[in-house]
Amino acid sequence: MFKLLTCFLLLWVGSNADKYANPIALAAPDPWMQYYNGYYYLVATTWTNEIGIRKASTLGGLKDVENTIVYTIDGRVIWAPEIHLIDGRWYLFYCACGPNTEGNGCHRNHVAQSASDDPMGPYTFMADLDDPNTDVEELDPSYIIINDNQYLLGSVMGSTQDLYIRPMVNPYTPSGPKYFLSTPTYDWEKQGWTVNEGPEPLYHDGRVFVVFSASLCSTPNYKLGIMEFVGTDPLNSTHWHKYADPVFQRSNENHVYGPGHNGFFKSPDGTEDWIVYHANSEESQGCDMGRSSRAQKFTWGEDGLPLFGLPEAADVSYEGPSGE
Ligand SMILES: *[C@@H]1O[C@H](CO)[C@@H](O)[C@H](O)[C@H]1NC(C)=O
Repeated sequence: MFKLLTCFLLLWVGSNADKYANPIALAAPDPWMQYYNGYYYLVATTWTNEIGIRKASTLGGLKDVENTIVYTIDGRVIWAPEIHLIDGRWYLFYCACGPNTEGNGCHRNHVAQSASDDPMGPYTFMADLDDPNTDVEELDPSYIIINDNQYLLGSVMGSTQDLYIRPMVNPYTPSGPKYFLSTPTYDWEKQGWTVNEGPEPLYHDGRVFVVFSASLCSTPNYKLGIMEFVGTDPLNSTHWHKYADPVFQRSNENHVYGPGHNGFFKSPDGTEDWIVYHANSEESQGCDMGRSSRAQKFTWGEDGLPLFGLPEAADVSYEGPSGE
């Protein structure tokens, strides 16, 4: 009997090692994650003047590690940081307000560079990425590579909140102004307010997608839509096709509300696609640091589009990414 129990215990501990449950990190909105050289690196909004990274060898292990500060700015209200590995260095894209700015509209996009190929930095400031031709709020920077050309993606505040794309020579050198990419047109993009934000690159089978967040983040109806590059000129919005239906949204059944502002990462063995996103467990939890990071595996449909399914219920154990 004792032997049997020990055996069960070992099995339980053994199989638990590569399981995880959502949320994977508390107080971590606008998450972005990469798996690199044996570790997951999770970076998220802090709302402060510092950016931290959570590092762990398993997805489930992220819950137990501290958010190590890797970068500090002379400014405030950091939102939506992301790390991208380009030509052997990590580039930390983020938006923030200046030290003496007040109120809404003060965010601008910036980029810092790592000293080596270590995602933990140290990072050095490289450039302000706001378009000097306009004095408006620019936020949610990301980076996409299409046919070997590099582009900054972002969101811009106006009478509506839209997406933009800007040509880049490298992550810290723009080669032109920003171009309009997308504005909310469908009803599902206008709940609470007309919002397109958090544009994120997704590549599959030679196709290029941008997954974005739509509607107001403080509502339970914040959600993800998708657009695809279908032409020859990424700077021309008519060369992109926005799909008519959202691809990821609230699940009343699973008690997950306002899922959005995501990132994508691969399993350690490179065979699986995973999404990381934030969500709330209550309908009225709003758009602040209460939002938690969550992750789940996704697959692809016969039409070549991602199938994200429903956002997973909190506190339920799932199999971790393949190869952990
Ligand atoms: C955008 O693409 C459309 C369709 O190819 C074309 O008619 C239009 O001239 C392009 N606009 C610009 C500014 O290049």
